[in-house]
Amino acid sequence: MNSTRPAAASPQETESTFLALPLAAFAYVGSAEVNVYCLERDQSTVRLFRPHDRPFTATELGELKRRGTQTLLVKYSDYSQVTSLLYANLEDLAKDARITPSERMVLAQAAIHDVLEISWGMLRPDRFVDLSRRFAGIVSGLVHAADANLATMFPVLQHGGSYAVHATNVAYYAAVLARVLGESSVDRLREFALGAMLHDLGLRPQRQLPSHAAPSRGTNWRHEDGEESCSWHPQLAFEELSARPDVTETQRLMAYQHHENVDGTGYPVGLVGDEIHPWSRLLSVVDCFDTLTCGLPGQNRLSAPSALVVLEAHLGQSLDAEYTECWIKAFHRK
Ligand SMILES: [Fe+2]
Ligand SMILES: [Fe+2]
Repeated sequence: MNSTRPAAASPQETESTFLALPLAAFAYVGSAEVNVYCLERDQSTVRLFRPHDRPFTATELGELKRRGTQTLLVKYSDYSQVTSLLYANLEDLAKDARITPSERMVLAQAAIHDVLEISWGMLRPDRFVDLSRRFAGIVSGLVHAADANLATMFPVLQHGGSYAVHATNVAYYAAVLARVLGESSVDRLREFALGAMLHDLGLRPQRQLPSHAAPSRGTNWRHEDGEESCSWHPQLAFEELSARPDVTETQRLMAYQHHENVDGTGYPVGLVGDEIHPWSRLLSVVDCFDTLTCGLPGQNRLSAPSALVVLEAHLGQSLDAEYTECWIKAFHRK
């Protein structure tokens, strides 16, 4: 293979066959024996950029960065190999000052996704909580160190129906919203991000994320689908977390109350307004936002602006007015 004249991908392969990774990732996965691809200038043609038997050097990566290359592509089939190398370097990449905080967040999410999803799918809460704690530490550090631009971050985060994507997105959003609301303690951001990671721990792997977490426009969305067993998941999570001395009372409440509505129409208790812990009310806003934008099976995935319109419609009814307004403003902040 001549690396100076990269071959085009086969005709059956379209851009959707590939996943983009920030250029910075290849400093950590350079030893992976995977083909690396790039998008041509027309943004639709994918070409083989680097064959699997020629890993990147630091000099080459530096040159690509100087030329303005931001992302490269790997095939979906190679993605696990790449992310396992990222996972092996999780704490290092999270602290890597050569990479922007937003890139570090994206890489950390990619790195931890598979192990997180597997631990949940295998009903291993100990492992899930440990991984969540690591991720919460990374998220809180990044959010504490730099102002997040949500409009810029949203397109580069993963969005999908997997439990791990939901947990990691909600943890990130929760930390950002808490920071915007004035939380300055990195320890409290970490505690809050971990509570957000664990909020749906009561869901069982055979179940999808609860469709009733997503507001449907103009309806009392928290009660509409009637999936009774799903309505147990706050209680199940609370019980699971109650057995753990390394989880705080507030984190347990976040799991227990995240489907309560400020107008009293939520569950499991039907608490009203300030009866719901502030962190649970805050979590509820970003939980709904991610559920709307993650594209659950059988539901349209909303764009961020459309999801914000839905949240606004529920402001002060099911969702806390102050926190929802703050989230909407944070998204429009430059
Ligand atoms: Fe939930
Ligand atoms: Fe959730």
